[in-house]
Amino acid sequence: MSGCILLTGGAGFIGSHTYVALAQAGYDSVIVDDFSNACRSVPGRLEQITGRPVVCYDLDVADPTAMNAVFAAHNIDAVVHFAARKSVPQSLAQPQGFFDTNINTLLSLMKAMDRHRVRRIVYSSSATVYGAPESLPIPEHAPLSYTNPYGLSKLMGEQFLNQKARGRGGWSVGILRYFNPAGAHASGMIGEAPRSDGGNLMPLVAEVAKKERSCIHIYGRDYGTHDGTGIRDYIHVCDLAEGHVKSLDLLLGQGRSHTVNLGKGRGYSVLDVIKTYEAVSGQNIPYRFKPRRAGDVAASFADPKMAQAVLGFEAGRNLLEMCQSSWRWESAGKPMGPAMSATITTTPHPEMQFTPYLIGQSQYV
Ligand code: WQD
Repeated sequence: MSGCILLTGGAGFIGSHTYVALAQAGYDSVIVDDFSNACRSVPGRLEQITGRPVVCYDLDVADPTAMNAVFAAHNIDAVVHFAARKSVPQSLAQPQGFFDTNINTLLSLMKAMDRHRVRRIVYSSSATVYGAPESLPIPEHAPLSYTNPYGLSKLMGEQFLNQKARGRGGWSVGILRYFNPAGAHASGMIGEAPRSDGGNLMPLVAEVAKKERSCIHIYGRDYGTHDGTGIRDYIHVCDLAEGHVKSLDLLLGQGRSHTVNLGKGRGYSVLDVIKTYEAVSGQNIPYRFKPRRAGDVAASFADPKMAQAVLGFEAGRNLLEMCQSSWRWESAGKPMGPAMSATITTTPHPEMQFTPYLIGQSQYV
């Protein structure tokens, strides 16, 4: 397939890997990101990986004027909406901020899409919309609920988009429910680099391996799992990115809306992750058991059959590859400065004043 795809939050962890997968699949992409949770060196590194110039705008997706300028400047065929906050602990501490970012921004983006007659969107959702699963593996028709404001914001986003797809406006929507993304691009040039501690396991394990953190706190050792620690469905971020390409292919090819899980369909425990990371890094990873974490479930892993049937998607990479690629990225020191520079502008509209941020010259890097 081909076309021009707008990636909101496209400089972030999943967004940047999806940018690479789209380039490899023949799509052109435009990134918009406010860099609240992404490094300004990412566009330059994407240029190095893809060998092509990157078009990236530093702007707030909720800013209708700026977004109108982007849609007016590019012939956008579809949008992949990554721009959202995703930390469960932070959502418990700042629920209003999550509703504002995750819901109001989506509504503003949908208005801009309508205004420019762009009616294809892939939405970054999450397994948190299943709440505490009643049975495993989790199919897409499992009951939906939420145990935190983050999960509620994702559930509401799904409902808004499903309503749009049922309307007569000709919208097609791909809702992708991520389980636990992990790992990094094989080049070691892009990976997970949260600006704030989102509390996710693998980045924390990596910090211990790098001696930046003394030990991992394992939340709960008395779950009914094979080793008593929590089980999750970790999926390689490059597999996840490839799932987005397949979702776009379906939307642009057949205009067929869909909601699918993106997971491996099997779970790994906290101790499985720690032992595998020790093996690939050659580093000892000390840990201490702590009480269970509020909002955690014992085990969560996807039923991947719908993604296979609807998208022809299967997550092929295993936990070893996730840990190996993560360690390659982390031990390379998360290269922050690219050899090439990518121009990040604030808006493409010639009538609007903007200051191009050349990597290395920006006060943000
Ligand atoms: C994984 C396991 C913890 C940290 C969240 C979001 C989900 C997705 C991924 C966006 C659990 C244990 C963790 C630590 C630990 N985000 N753990 N010590 O909570 O499954 O999912 O992030 O899409 O939507 O809900 O991920 O990495 O925080 O935890 O023992 O220091 O590791 O208890 O069993 P989670 P996580």
